[in-house]
Amino acid sequence: MSGPRQGRFVTFEGGEGAGKSTLLATLAERAREGGGGSAGGSPLISVLTARARAADDQVVTCREPGGTWLGERLREALLGAPSTEPPDARAELLVFAAARAQIVAEVIRPALDRGALVLCDRYADSTVAYQHYGRGIEREAVDAANAVATGGLMPDLTVLLDLPPFEGLRRVGLVTDYLEREPLDFHRRVRAGYLAEAEAGGRWLVLDATQPPDTLAEAAWVSVERLFQA
Ligand code: TYD
Repeated sequence: MSGPRQGRFVTFEGGEGAGKSTLLATLAERAREGGGGSAGGSPLISVLTARARAADDQVVTCREPGGTWLGERLREALLGAPSTEPPDARAELLVFAAARAQIVAEVIRPALDRGALVLCDRYADSTVAYQHYGRGIEREAVDAANAVATGGLMPDLTVLLDLPPFEGLRRVGLVTDYLEREPLDFHRRVRAGYLAEAEAGGRWLVLDATQPPDTLAEAAWVSVERLFQA
């Protein structure tokens, strides 16, 4: 890791159609607006505003794969069309890792170094869930790829939106990439993998994604705020 980290890093994980991007957008808006609702005068906001920076600079949102020039091209190559053939599993692992290395270097680390709150849609845990538990690539290889990509940078908080895959795929509707075409069993392994990882506790917050969006946002917000109380 390079230098002290002053910011806070929050990631959002889950299977297809779990509602990560909606939740992330709601939390980002709330942070930028200064807490809102019941959270006015929150520690998070006073920390962010005390740094006297533009709100956009202090609340950074991103998604994986993507978020950089290289990441968006890799995303397009993998997920750009519903007809794309699934790549070799190890090639897939390395493409996700390459996109991650770029976003860590270009976006996440610099933002944390300037004290921002970084909210990222998917991160290293997606690779553990999809490429290890889903595809069956051995854990050591997945961990090694993640270690290269992240340089050891892990989230302070990971919000897992847990949903039965059948329900998630129903929500997604039209298939837009080859991963959504994977059999239900694949998605069940991904879900079980996430839950197994979250058993470790610590940085994980597991939410039942069948709850209403407002309930999910409230629960996640409490945990995000707590990061700034330490
Ligand atoms: P995306 O369209 O962003 O889906 P979602 O809205 O569910 O996040 O597609 C990302 C897909 O890539 C998703 O199926 C999960 C998969 N993925 C991996 O398999 N490994 C990874 O490391 C990452 C980041 C994503």
